[in-house]
Amino acid sequence: MSRRPPSIRRRLTLRLLLASALLAGLLFIIVINFARSVAQVSQDNILEASVTSILESASVQKGRVGIDIPYAALAMLGNVSDDRVFYRVSVDDTHLTGYPDLPVPDGPPDDHGRRFETADYLGDEIRIVSASRKLARDGHPVWVTVSVAQTRGGLQNILQVIWRNAAFLGAGFFAIAAVLVVTGAQATVDPLERLAASVSRRGPQDLRPVEAEVPVEMEPLVASLNRFIARLSTTLAQSEDFMAEAAHRVRTPLATVRAQAEVAMARMDKPENRASLGDMIRALDESSRAASQLLDHAMVTFRTDQLEHQPLHPHELIEETVRRLQPVAGLKDIAISVEAPRDVELVGDAILLQSAFGNLLDNAIKYSPHESDISVICGPCPGESTAEPRDFWRIQVIDQGPGFPTGTGKRLTKRFARGSNSEGTVGSGLGLTIAEEVARAHGGRLEIGRNPEGDGACVSLILPVS
Ligand SMILES: Nc1ncnc2c1ncn2[C@@H]1O[C@H](COP(=O)(O)OP(=O)(O)O)[C@@H](O)[C@H]1O
Ligand SMILES: [Mg+2]
Repeated sequence: MSRRPPSIRRRLTLRLLLASALLAGLLFIIVINFARSVAQVSQDNILEASVTSILESASVQKGRVGIDIPYAALAMLGNVSDDRVFYRVSVDDTHLTGYPDLPVPDGPPDDHGRRFETADYLGDEIRIVSASRKLARDGHPVWVTVSVAQTRGGLQNILQVIWRNAAFLGAGFFAIAAVLVVTGAQATVDPLERLAASVSRRGPQDLRPVEAEVPVEMEPLVASLNRFIARLSTTLAQSEDFMAEAAHRVRTPLATVRAQAEVAMARMDKPENRASLGDMIRALDESSRAASQLLDHAMVTFRTDQLEHQPLHPHELIEETVRRLQPVAGLKDIAISVEAPRDVELVGDAILLQSAFGNLLDNAIKYSPHESDISVICGPCPGESTAEPRDFWRIQVIDQGPGFPTGTGKRLTKRFARGSNSEGTVGSGLGLTIAEEVARAHGGRLEIGRNPEGDGACVSLILPVS
């Protein structure tokens, strides 16, 4: 199972969302607790006021502790809600009035001597406050204790409303935070995405340093990218020099040796010596050709990345190549006819186009029988312009040889691929590769077919006008 690579945006979003959710939850809990304690304090205050006013009404008359519960003392509790109110008064430990079984808080008293408690009474939760006051009866101190309790229904109702509002508040907080998180995470990865887009938009030949403005954290990345690009351009420039140098160093001595071998052969009389010199010359031809093609191919690969765009006339290019290969064709009595209009102008790399066309013509000569004809036809390419708005030109090389082996198709344009008909002919399987790469680098293509007028091959270089 392949794992998806981690995404900065997703990670950042998830973490911040989690943090926002925690904060929203915390906010909710704080609000609820605060509201609960405020509500509790206000209920406690009323209960306390009630207890105080009842306590104050206690007095000793005729040696008896009496209490006259003021109306307001209990009414103030009833005002708040429909909650039930209970009270109880005792003198020392003797029950005086009210609900005798009302529990009395036994916790420590607060600063004002009040005790508060929450308890269950008659099936309801109640809040009780109690306080004591010392009275003097017959010269002896007595303690009057008053407890007032109230059910907590009203308080729960208020808390429920607050709970709902706090939940809305928390959810709203989370929603706003989520929007900020998503936009924030996007803003964080924006410069990264912009950099990636600007680098991947570049053409293969664009080796300028990256100048996009990036945040400080990304500067080391851009700096190393630029150092890498600089190293690459230096290496490429060095390889170009190397290729030119190598081509020169390999071809020149081979040509010298070949010339010497021919001179020597002319001086030889013995047929066996002549035969071995002939073999040597053929081997020299073969290696010089292979070396040339390998270097040509390397040169084509390199130059397609740095294509030159010069205006050029295809008929000049064709005629020059034909002139160069005429001697080879002459050896097989092959006639080459050229049909190329003079007013056509293409834009492209003359060295590459010459190499491509040269390879096609070389193939035609190699694979043609003696005393046959090769025609080179340059003309507009009808139908092509409907697919693309540009005009295309076609340079066709037609021979009368055996044609391409059936079923080989595009396979022969692969590097080092040779057909079944190539046995006994010198070659390295790079000719069609070079031609196709050159065509593609110019925005055109290579077409392989049969001679429309009988036996033979027809290979076309199709190139856009500009
Ligand atoms: N004009 C042609 N007629 C017949 N076969 C051809 C022709 N041109 C190329 N081919 C076939 O395509 C193969 C690949 O051509 P190429 O890449 O130029 O390699 P090479 O010429 O070194 O064999 C050749 O081996 C041959 O089988
Ligand atoms: Mg070839």
